[in-house]
Amino acid sequence: MRRVLAALAILLAPLAMSAPADAQQRGAARAPAPTQRPLSFIAQTPAPSGVLVLPLSSLEQLDARGLPEAERNAIGRAIASADYQFGARATLALRGISDWDQIILVGVGEAPTERDYQRLGAATARSLLSEEGALTIVAPDFTAEQAAMFATGMGIGQYRSDLYHTRSRTEHGQGAITIVTNAPQEASALYTSRGRALIDAMAWTRDISNEPGNVVYPETFVARARAALARTPGVSIQVLDVPAMERLGMGAILGVGRGSERPPRMMIIRYRGPNSPAQPIVLAGKGITFDSGGISIKGSSGMGDMRMDMSGAASVTGAVLALSRSRAPVHVIAIAALAENMPDGAAIRPGDVLTAMNGMTIEIVSTDAEGRLVLADALSWVEANLDPAAVVDVATLTGAVVGALGDDYAGLFTRHDALADQLTTAGETVGERLWRMPLDPSYASDTSSTYADIKNGGGGGAGAGTGAHFIGEFIGRDTPWAHIDIAGVAWGGASDWKPAGSTAYAVRLLDRFVRDFQPIEAEAEAADE
Ligand code: BES
Ligand code: MN
Ligand code: ZN
Repeated sequence: MRRVLAALAILLAPLAMSAPADAQQRGAARAPAPTQRPLSFIAQTPAPSGVLVLPLSSLEQLDARGLPEAERNAIGRAIASADYQFGARATLALRGISDWDQIILVGVGEAPTERDYQRLGAATARSLLSEEGALTIVAPDFTAEQAAMFATGMGIGQYRSDLYHTRSRTEHGQGAITIVTNAPQEASALYTSRGRALIDAMAWTRDISNEPGNVVYPETFVARARAALARTPGVSIQVLDVPAMERLGMGAILGVGRGSERPPRMMIIRYRGPNSPAQPIVLAGKGITFDSGGISIKGSSGMGDMRMDMSGAASVTGAVLALSRSRAPVHVIAIAALAENMPDGAAIRPGDVLTAMNGMTIEIVSTDAEGRLVLADALSWVEANLDPAAVVDVATLTGAVVGALGDDYAGLFTRHDALADQLTTAGETVGERLWRMPLDPSYASDTSSTYADIKNGGGGGAGAGTGAHFIGEFIGRDTPWAHIDIAGVAWGGASDWKPAGSTAYAVRLLDRFVRDFQPIEAEAEAADE
């Protein structure tokens, strides 16, 4: 009996170890983020209550707001004395001039585009986060699209990243948002069908990215994705665990995961909407739930940010969430390559050789160049199992891209001009910009290894390009493929229109790209070299 108990204790020990009494339990049990303010569109300005928001691009527009003469004049005087210029997202708050608690002017700026309306909405919501009462936005000169974009922005802007504040959590107001527009029904339909799905998807992506590594690791990432996508029509999820990946010969992702107590996973999410094409668009995401660097360990400063090294996987999952929740007529498959990169007695070492699913042998130069390894197996799986119309991978891949592009652009690498154009356009439209970088044939010599088919790091030089080149070796030359390096843009500090932490970069971009996708013709250049 004792022997049995002892054996049982040994068996149970790893279980106990994997469930420490820390944030993890709270994280698992925590209720979903507080609800958004309810939002609706109407045609007539309601009776004054709470805050009145007036989006304006000029003084003349003020006349068309149906305000009483005295209020109109008081606002005019305030604009003159504050020298208010209606610049994009500039605000002017006025109190005590009417029955509204406050009247807030927000500048629309010059020649606003879709993304500007969204940012305007986000900035408006953020500046009024703790306002308890109702918010009424009077915007008769917004089109239905613009009003829906503004509303979507308000939803995105209400996101909170203070997931674990227990003491000083500032309460968000819950008062309703009413948007007064000339086309309330149309705006409402657009908002309900697309806006809400995008708001929820971005919040999901931000949450899972912001979560620490002791809460979100491959298995819990999968559990959260399953929970978010449960009961969404047209969605199916397939998960490869370690034995399944071993059978498939996925030595690259298995190698990365070997140093961690948390086993890796490959998650495949399929969504096929109504009247969608046979060929899917594949979105592959780097999902390193924490990147310590492994045996090639990172310096300690800022290492905590590497809990967000799964941002690519979070964004491709978020994009499928947005598309499926709005029942978009598209065929899309997301692949999340999930692993934790830790140093340990079992971890891979520099000098080791791994064999990827496609049979290619990889010399490990640095265990810190792990993103390309997990993506190698993800793309090998795509190559072996799917016939995609296009493949886009998203990854926080290199520090080098941060040096090149900072937080203004994500790096875009592709050999297919038509794919580059479609992605760049989608990024411009939604305000998640891409900058195309070279994928020069010479990068092949940077990754050529003395001992194996390829090595996972080059000798310096174009670091972001070398990483892109490596990934590209695992997908067919004729498959339209692009790599997006989001290392510089996936998270950052707060601004007037976004909170600090994860940005959910590429959720909006991929949502738009997939909806607007035009089949890529075979290009002569795809067969270069
Ligand atoms: N996750 C990092 C890249 C990164 C750096 C993301 C900074 C976000 C901010 C990646 O796994 C990494 O460590 N890349 C190495 C590659 C090198 C070893 C070839 C890098 O960029 O230093
Ligand atoms: Mn790394
Ligand atoms: Zn990494």
